[in-house]
Amino acid sequence: MAAKRDNFGSHFAAIMAMAGSAIGLGNIWRFPYVVGQNGGAAFIVVYLFSAVFLCIPIFLSEALIGKRTQLSTFGAMEALAPGRKWKWLGFLTVFTPLIILSYYSVVGGWSLEYLLKALSFSFTSADVTQEGLSADFSGFISSTWAPLFFHTVFMLINAFVLMAGVKGGIEKFTKITTPLLFVLVVVIMAYSMSLPGAGAGISYLLKPDFTKLTPYSVLSAMGQAFFSLSLGVGCILTYGSYLKKDSDLLTTGLSTSLFDLCFALIAGFAIMPAVFAAGIEPGAGPGLIFETLPFIFSKMGAGMPVVSGIIAIIFFITIVFAALTSSISMLETGVAYLVDQKHLARGKAIAILFTGCWALGVLCCLSFGPMADVKILGLTVFDLCDKMTANFLMTFGSLLFTLFVGWRMKKSDVYDEFTNGGSLRTSVKVFGFVYFLIKFVAPVVIGVIFITTLVM
Ligand code: TRP
Repeated sequence: MAAKRDNFGSHFAAIMAMAGSAIGLGNIWRFPYVVGQNGGAAFIVVYLFSAVFLCIPIFLSEALIGKRTQLSTFGAMEALAPGRKWKWLGFLTVFTPLIILSYYSVVGGWSLEYLLKALSFSFTSADVTQEGLSADFSGFISSTWAPLFFHTVFMLINAFVLMAGVKGGIEKFTKITTPLLFVLVVVIMAYSMSLPGAGAGISYLLKPDFTKLTPYSVLSAMGQAFFSLSLGVGCILTYGSYLKKDSDLLTTGLSTSLFDLCFALIAGFAIMPAVFAAGIEPGAGPGLIFETLPFIFSKMGAGMPVVSGIIAIIFFITIVFAALTSSISMLETGVAYLVDQKHLARGKAIAILFTGCWALGVLCCLSFGPMADVKILGLTVFDLCDKMTANFLMTFGSLLFTLFVGWRMKKSDVYDEFTNGGSLRTSVKVFGFVYFLIKFVAPVVIGVIFITTLVM
């Protein structure tokens, strides 16, 4: 057992680190493109519903288990339900984030490449066209070496940050970059919405057409909500275990969820209007923002090339940081497991996981180029890793966490941990409602959507 675990220095730092895990490529890259693939506003309605009625109870369940046991996933399940099958949930949660990391790192690598492009002011020169930008992007991702190189660099940065530990590494990063990114996305949103032709994008996000919803798109909306908050895979549990014993779970949970939700919506309004203004297909898939953002910067650049060039640079720097604060949280879950349970040295744990994720990431990376024809269940390796984790493993994990807290833990223990022994007034007041969401609403809704998708 690790003798003394790192704690977050302050409550603010804990919230920022959890928000750092939550806010990432999921908000800026994934949200706009899955909205585009699933028909727009109706999808967002389901997403909002999931965020409030499902994500908050799941977040609280996970953070509560972590805070109570001060252990990472596997150990936490063992401690609360010794000798039971629940410990397999611990296993699931160690592996899922690692699969996610392998493809997340590929997109992190794309962001690095785009940062370099921004540094050379290549989006703001007078002769960029939308066709050119799109061709550039597809040329880049379908090539072999460049994306592999950037994927590798992205993974290496993760390993270095994690070597520095919780206080030295993760905290310092998140405190500065997360708020900065928020400001930038707001600026870009304002600009994007003012582009000629942006109106169609805005109504795409605001006028729901529920006939477009299928059971699978409902599952995807729920999966996206879970993905965005890093739920169901033990990330929040692990960060919860770094919370001080007197931390207020409700405030932490609500602020993180709200912040993350606003971030995704703002990113949607930053990207979608420009997608329509540029005449890009909203369902274009994982490359959506990489084709759209340069377009925004180039339009901005027409009037003020230097300003727009600088905004592009700062923007891609903060995206890279947002991606990193999320990806380190994925690696951290596995590292915490190997250190706490297998008593490996931190460095060794990082080296092992790094190698595994990097290798799977190579396959994801090549699935846009040389391995584009390799399909499993009709999906490329990249899509398979993405859909399998976000839509299935995370939903399944989330279901199990709420069942665990709602049905396996003693209600009095849950109450104690949630209200810090009855000392938090607001938490005491809302406990009944929150407990109802955890025990009944979340498991039933997730279960029904899950099963409907499987049978339809
Ligand atoms: N939530 C992060 C994002 O929106 C991604 C992320 C971090 C994540 N940790 C995770 C996703 C664990 C799934 C599981 O970018």
